[in-house]
Order: sequence, then C-alpha cells, then structure tokens
Amino acid sequence: MAPLLTPDSMLHGLNAAWQQRSLASVWHPCTQMQRAAAVPPLPIARASGPWLYDHEGRRYFDTSSSWWVNLFGHADPGIVAAIKAQLDELPHVMLAGCTHAPAVELAERLSARTEGELGHLFFASDGASAVEIALKMSVHHWSNCGQPGKREFVCLQGGYHGETLGALAVTDVPVFRSAYAPLLYGGAHLVPSPDARLAQPGEDAAAVAERAAAALEALLAQRHSHIAALIVEPLVQGAAGMAMHHAHYLRRVRALCERYQVHLIADEIAVGFGRTGSFFACQQAGIWPDLLCLSKGITGGFLPLSVVLCRSAIYRAFLSDDVARGFLHSHSYSGNALACRAALAVLDRFEQRDVLGDNARMAAVLDTALAPLAQDPRLQHLRRCGMIWAFDVRAEHAPERFAERLHLVGRAHELLLRPIGRTVYLMPPYLLDQALARWLAERLIGTLNDTLNPAAADYPGAAWPSDADRTPEPPTA
Ligand SMILES: Cc1ncc(COP(=O)(O)O)c(C=O)c1O
Repeated sequence: MAPLLTPDSMLHGLNAAWQQRSLASVWHPCTQMQRAAAVPPLPIARASGPWLYDHEGRRYFDTSSSWWVNLFGHADPGIVAAIKAQLDELPHVMLAGCTHAPAVELAERLSARTEGELGHLFFASDGASAVEIALKMSVHHWSNCGQPGKREFVCLQGGYHGETLGALAVTDVPVFRSAYAPLLYGGAHLVPSPDARLAQPGEDAAAVAERAAAALEALLAQRHSHIAALIVEPLVQGAAGMAMHHAHYLRRVRALCERYQVHLIADEIAVGFGRTGSFFACQQAGIWPDLLCLSKGITGGFLPLSVVLCRSAIYRAFLSDDVARGFLHSHSYSGNALACRAALAVLDRFEQRDVLGDNARMAAVLDTALAPLAQDPRLQHLRRCGMIWAFDVRAEHAPERFAERLHLVGRAHELLLRPIGRTVYLMPPYLLDQALARWLAERLIGTLNDTLNPAAADYPGAAWPSDADRTPEPPTA
C-alpha cells in the first residue's frame, strides 16, 4: 500500500532507481539483456487481483497472469491465508523418508480429478523438471519391462516443454534451442503440429488434426519399438503462439499410443487448471494420458511446484528389490509443504465455486467486446480456447520490433502485454466481471491501434535487433 500513500514528489524517480539497480545486478529470464536498457523491467511494488502496481503508484493489468501462473488474482486472500497457516505448522520437510498431510492430500485430490486413472503423483518444482521426470520415467519404465530399446521420444513442431536440457530436446522453438543443440539428446522425432491455422483450402480444424495424426501414425508404425513416449501440449501450444488444435487430434493420438505401446505424456503445465475451459485440457477429448505434467496454475501463481501423475501400471513397474529399478530422481524442495498447501487452496476454490462456469460466462462477454478484431484487415486468426484469446498481426502491418513496441504502448494503456512474435494474446486471471472484460478489450484495441499507427515513429527501442530474430512467426498454411 505504501507507495500509493506517498506524496507524488517522493515517488518520482523510484521506478527508475529500481530499474537501474536491477539492470546492474539481475540477469532476467528470457531476455536479451542488451535490450533491457531500452525496455527496462517494470518495477513492481505490490500486486492485488489482476493489478500490478509500480513504485510510483501506476497500475497494470496482468494480461498473461504472470507467465500463465496466476489463477485467481495476485495476493488472493484465501491462498494467502492457507500459506500463512501452513507457515506456522510446517514450512518444509524433505519428501524422501518423510511425508506430510499437504503432499498426501494433494496427491489424493489430483488423482481423484483424473477419476483415479492416474494413481500416483511425483513432486518437483518447476514445469521443466516435471517434463524431465516424465521423460525419464517413461524410458526407465520400458527398461524395467524388458524393453530397453524404447528410448526415443516424439514431439510436435512448435512444441515447448521448458528450458532444461531434456525438456529442450523435445522442444521445437529454435530461439530457445539452437545455441544448445549440440548438448541435446538426439533421439527426438518431430511430427507436424495440428495447429488449426495450418488449414489448407477446404480444410477445417478437425481435418488439420487428422492430417497431423496421420503423419504421427506413419512414424509410429515404422519406429514404435524404439519409441518410449510422445509428448503433447493438449489443445494449445502456448509458446508456439497460442496455436490451438481440435480435440480430434488428442483422441487419435491416444488410440495410436495404445496401438503402438507408446506412452502419451500430456504437458498440461500451461493448460491445466481450467485454462482451456475444462479442468484438464485432455478432458475435452475424453482421454487420459499415461503421464500428466502439471505446474504453473497449480499454486495459483504463488509458489513453484510441479507434479507428474502416472498410471498405476507405470508406478508398479518400478517396484523391485533392486534399488536401481526404482525411480531415484529427486529435488531438494520436492513436495514443499507451503506450495502443496497453496495448491490445496486452489483445489478448494474449484470445489467451492463454479470457476469453469463463471469463466465461460465472462469469456462470452470478452468475446463480444473483442469481436471487432475479427473484421480488422490488419489481423488474422482471432481465436479462443477457454480463457486464452489470441490473434496474429499480419506481417505487412506489423512495424519493426512489433512485440517490444506493443509491450511499451501497452504499459501506457495500463496493460502488461507480452506478445509472442506477431501473436498477441490474453490469458487473464479468472476474476473478470463484465466491466473489467469490456475495459480489457477496449484497452487492448487502443494499444493495438497506437502500436500499428505508422505515425508513432519515435519508438525508444529503434536501435535494437528485430523481433523476427528471436520469436516464432505465426505459421501459414
Ligand atoms: C507447456 C509448457 N511446458 C513446460 C513449461 C516449462 O515450465 P517452467 O517454466 O516452469 O519450467 C512451460 C512454460 O512456459 C510450458 O508452457
């Protein structure tokens, strides 16, 4: 609260001071630091609901829910209270050789959310570490089952699964991957994305999904005895630019994995917890994977936590008198009690309120408010899946350094926006009301118009390299 009560004269310059100190000492993630002088980090003093407040009292709507983690707003009182209560009881204890109520309850309740199909849960901390675990678990499972030759993976074009080496090996975003390519495991096969934007004339989203599934089928038919697992971001490939696909793809993939004895790993790190309109994205296809990775929204955006849920058959394949046949993977903060308690508070919210229903109702309001964008000749592919909206700015209308420019213009419109290349998206926290939804659409449209306005040439980042050097382009059919 303090900055808002401080006289303006005292506030002036506080942002700049924090920016300077930050640039002198903090190496920011996913950032070319040379650019940070032109686009200095927004110094955030506090946050509440969908709003972030800087040190001079200005507010910004967190349109990406802080990298897709925040579900019910910042400093949500229910989650804060749950964490505070846990803090006094048991902040943390190692999960090897010990157990605790928040971890047990969370494992039970998440497993119940899969109708018991995925019976055991392994804890980690970040999304990428959950992906590492799922990949290792799959290969080790096949080895324990007498099939050590099954150790290759299949991943999708444009897929993103995190930045650690194993996760990067199944990621197809060159800007994140290329510098480390020599270090990456080479046994990953890339198959076509079912991205509905790739529709050829006469094709609908289901037809694109079918075409992509047919390519996967051809690979599996030929190579399945060497393939351990396929990893998929169900319904929305986030880092590819909110590439959305038809649920038909997931149904086909499930059947193919069954037929060819290949694990299906669903990476729901970004899309789980209601983001696509159902609690898990896979539910829209009526399928369950063999391994399910969750993170981000799991704690409502409060604390780092990730989990991998697996089928009991996979779990049982590790039971042995031989220690080495067990899954010995670990992280120091696995199953941190504070993070588990925050996750339980998130599950409580889904049980106490009709979160999915409320989101669907507010999504319809935002749809209506954003509808003019569908007619805008500068844009294409306006799309939505649950609580994710996206559109692409046509190349000929995007000014140089479009993403950076939109981000800076957005700040002036009280929006924190972080486009992916020429894809602009909204992934707001689940607390829109009618007025806020309309305000958000109005500010987004205003930001877009100001950004695409060729008269606005005095852009401060003009000296920096183009966005095209670092971010994926929306695909064309
Ligand atoms: C689908 C998906 N998988 C994995 C990750 C990696 O998660 P983390 O950044 O927590 O390591 C992300 C992060 O954006 C993601 O979107």
